[in-house]
Amino acid sequence: MPTITTIDSLRNHVGQTVTLQGWVHKTRSSGKIAFVIVRDGTGLCQCVVENNEQTGAVFADARHLTQESSVEVTGTVRADERAVGGHELDTTGLRVVQAAVDYPITPKPHGVDFLMKHRHLWFRSQRQHTILRIRHTLVDAIRRYFNDNGYVLIDTPVFSPSAGEETSTLFEVDYFGEPVYLAQTGQLHVEAACLAHRKVYCFGPTFRAEKSKTRRHLTEFWMVEPEIAYASLDDVIGVAEDFVCSLVRRVLQDHRADLEALGRDLTQLDHIDKPFARLTYGQAVDMLHASQTRELLEKDLREQTARIEELTAKIAELEETQKTARKKWQQEKAAQDIQAAREERSDLAEQVSNIPHHMDLAANFEWGSDLGGSDETILSRLHDRPAFVTHYPKEVKAFYMRVDRQDPRLVENFDLLAPEGFGEVIGGSAREEDYDTLAARIAEDGLPRESYEWYLDLRRYGSVPHGGFGLGVERTLAWLCGLKHIRETIPYPRMMGKIYP
Ligand code: 4AD
Ligand code: MG
Repeated sequence: MPTITTIDSLRNHVGQTVTLQGWVHKTRSSGKIAFVIVRDGTGLCQCVVENNEQTGAVFADARHLTQESSVEVTGTVRADERAVGGHELDTTGLRVVQAAVDYPITPKPHGVDFLMKHRHLWFRSQRQHTILRIRHTLVDAIRRYFNDNGYVLIDTPVFSPSAGEETSTLFEVDYFGEPVYLAQTGQLHVEAACLAHRKVYCFGPTFRAEKSKTRRHLTEFWMVEPEIAYASLDDVIGVAEDFVCSLVRRVLQDHRADLEALGRDLTQLDHIDKPFARLTYGQAVDMLHASQTRELLEKDLREQTARIEELTAKIAELEETQKTARKKWQQEKAAQDIQAAREERSDLAEQVSNIPHHMDLAANFEWGSDLGGSDETILSRLHDRPAFVTHYPKEVKAFYMRVDRQDPRLVENFDLLAPEGFGEVIGGSAREEDYDTLAARIAEDGLPRESYEWYLDLRRYGSVPHGGFGLGVERTLAWLCGLKHIRETIPYPRMMGKIYP
């Protein structure tokens, strides 16, 4: 019996006969030879089947293989630099485990909606496979950072008696006749634990009824939230900076080739290091009003309009190729490129149509309002490093944030904006440790006091300055992978109007 192995370890089996267990990715054949590209979860391998006396029967089977049929392929491993993955299999045996008929995701172009409805199958395509492997590494790096630095993992509940963030994004659940909420954050519960363990973190799914469809919002996302006793705002910012550097380093170290395959330009990521930029909310507002913001958006308008024209010309050219190409694969390639160019063009057209609005929002931004998505994008693009924006007006932020003792209009908080327009990946703050001030903020926000009595206990019994932050896994992954939309960063994206599969 030949050894069963995986594609990522073929290099240890050159010259040997092995069996691969996988799925048919693509096939191509002529009268003399068939090529079956097999994927097995660890990589791709081209299996070559010759139509000769020994392998004639295998060749006949290979010609009938359909996309995504599950197969066991046996053959001799040959190193070949030009081959995908660097090895080929000279095939001597083939067993179809299950023959797939009409696999829906064909090499032809498909729209995003179609792919999202087939998320359970879309996983298998190269790009999705790559992104979810990077997610795996990111999650590992997150856990490692806190585990290696003395933080205790505290699992916080998903059913929560109280709102942690904006009450407008609560998902209400009937809990034996009582209304409770799906957790918007584990923070309040993990704060209690930091008074027991000093340094703690929670990491889990988080739920927000985001009623708008944006490229940054999910209704279910993963967030890691460290919380540290006896920490000031500066201490917490220092941790966030060190933490984010460790994540970037690890992902670059393990996935450089994957990121390049995704088309990620690594120039900026490669240079991410401490210290990050720091500005206050007040300074951010000044930046939005300054000429550099207007110039940036005017430049976008010019460049994107030019790019749209370029794409229109390219599409016309490709349509011609599609009509005149002789080979089926050439037509398919042209169709795919047309689809990609059309998608890019319609994205750009939408962006261009929004630019005047974004200019207007930035120019007329009023001190006291919250920074919106487009403002964050602008601020993030005006920095070549991640940037901390601190000290927002109290009114636009959550009740638990520590009131600035120098300027009580402000809170001691921060958002971390990733560069290149990716925007907020972390939100954090020092927490109000004073009982009276906190009780007053709960009342001001009109929150039901009785749901927060337990939280106020933390200020009654040994209250200390403390703080922490929350990093969103999907936003961070979108930034690291350079993805325009958050929907590809989570195995099963949940957004308004999207719940299947
Ligand atoms: O800024 P947020 O709302 O902060 C909190 O929840 C605090 N309780 C965290 C803390 O101090 N312990 O959310 C933190 C991060 C955001 O920066 C973003 O990365 C992510 O969570 N996030 C979302 N990601 C995807 N979809 C959404 N709807 C998100 N809302 C927040
Ligand atoms: Mg936030």
